[in-house]
Amino acid sequence: GDWSSDVALPIWRHRRGVCSRKFLHMDSLLIKGGVPLHGDVQISGAKNAVLPIMAATLLTAEPCIIRRVPDLSDVKFMGRILESLGCAVKFEGDTLTVQAHRIKGHGDYDLIRKMRGSICILGPLLGRLRKADVSQPGGCVIGTRPIDLHLKGLRALGAKIEIEGGYVRAKAPRLTGTEVFLGGRAGPTVLGTANIMSAAVLAEGVTIIESAACEPEVSDLATFLNAMGAKIQGAGSPTITITGVKALHGAEHEVIPDRIEAATFLIAAAMTHGEITIHGAKPEHLNAVIDKLREAGVKIERRGAAMIAKRGPRLTPVDVTTLPYAGFPTDVQAQMMALMALTPGISIITERIFESRFGHVAELGRLGADIAIEGPSAIVKGGKRLSGAPVMASDLRASAALVLAGLAAKGSTQVNRIYHLDRGYEKIDAKLKQLGGRISRIQE
Ligand code: EPU
Repeated sequence: GDWSSDVALPIWRHRRGVCSRKFLHMDSLLIKGGVPLHGDVQISGAKNAVLPIMAATLLTAEPCIIRRVPDLSDVKFMGRILESLGCAVKFEGDTLTVQAHRIKGHGDYDLIRKMRGSICILGPLLGRLRKADVSQPGGCVIGTRPIDLHLKGLRALGAKIEIEGGYVRAKAPRLTGTEVFLGGRAGPTVLGTANIMSAAVLAEGVTIIESAACEPEVSDLATFLNAMGAKIQGAGSPTITITGVKALHGAEHEVIPDRIEAATFLIAAAMTHGEITIHGAKPEHLNAVIDKLREAGVKIERRGAAMIAKRGPRLTPVDVTTLPYAGFPTDVQAQMMALMALTPGISIITERIFESRFGHVAELGRLGADIAIEGPSAIVKGGKRLSGAPVMASDLRASAALVLAGLAAKGSTQVNRIYHLDRGYEKIDAKLKQLGGRISRIQE
């Protein structure tokens, strides 16, 4: 989920105080680089799992309890959206309770428009109310972010959908199970799969999604929906079969750990010559990342449920192409590029999921990295000395890459606009500090 393009507006233009400083502050991080990170870090619940799960609570009038909920601005934002639809939403530590006792099919448009991830309320609203009215999410810095596949799937289930004045207006007096192929130009769609699955659980008959996204976040949503009484089989594979049921009930669920956060800490250990023990991650969700990092000379060991990462004697450049799961995740592309910038030799990093997810390239250049963009690929001439500079984050993962580069660079790096980071990394500054990073938050 990403802020749509309008999010770069000065915060005081946002009405109602919902986008208050807490969400869209202009804080920055000041990093003194060159300190190896050592110690233990605990991985939080996955942002991209919890957002569609929160949306799925709309499918029942009964209370749902979600555990291991990360404290992120995107999560708070989704909480506000659910409230605007009529839900009772309560955060207590990392436990979230939502009850969608009586809800309406249209929420606060202003809120919904501002978070790309909010598109995942469309499927659950259609399932429960047979109608939904949401604002069309905008494009964002990483690409155009179309929703054609979401609409194709929901239409196949019988929804009538109109796009009108920036809104998606969907109605489905009946939802009927069907076969739907969800593969697009760049492969399957994660939130599209989540939406169709969430609508189909309450459809009549059997829905088969072909070319479904296989991301662990999709499986986690299916686990939650099944706990609510849905009948979903095959989630995690390209063919998902959903047998519609009459109603869903409340459920309890613990969100999977954030594989992207874990990957970011693996890379941090390598980039700073440190040694980090990562707790609470699921290594089996990280196979592509671990494989690439090992190929690059990073030592990653498993000790029980923990993973220990440190740099080996020598780093070697590797080529990376982002792909749908179980390939190398686009959400780790920027962080991997930061590592390659430090690695002597040439590496080619190709982005196949989003067409313009290279916002970090120019900023890494300010720190001294030598990276050229050629079509969908970045050519990294690694091994140049990085030295601190003020940089500006353009999106969540670009921000993470800049923080990593700043930790490895000589001197001070100020990463501006870290509200991006607060959307997706729980307590990032505290976690890095605990590992010995010299990092402080400068308030606007
Ligand atoms: N696409 C279409 N049509 C659609 C939907 C998607 O052509 O209707 C295309 C997209 O333009 C893209 C590709 O399909 O080229 C894959 O996009 P997908 O729909 O899978 O992305 P998403 O579901 O909108 C989620 C994550 C992203 C993550 C991508 C890919 C959430 C909230 N967001 O987005 O996370 O990059 O899957 O794995 O789950 C992030 O966390 O930083 C982030 C951007």
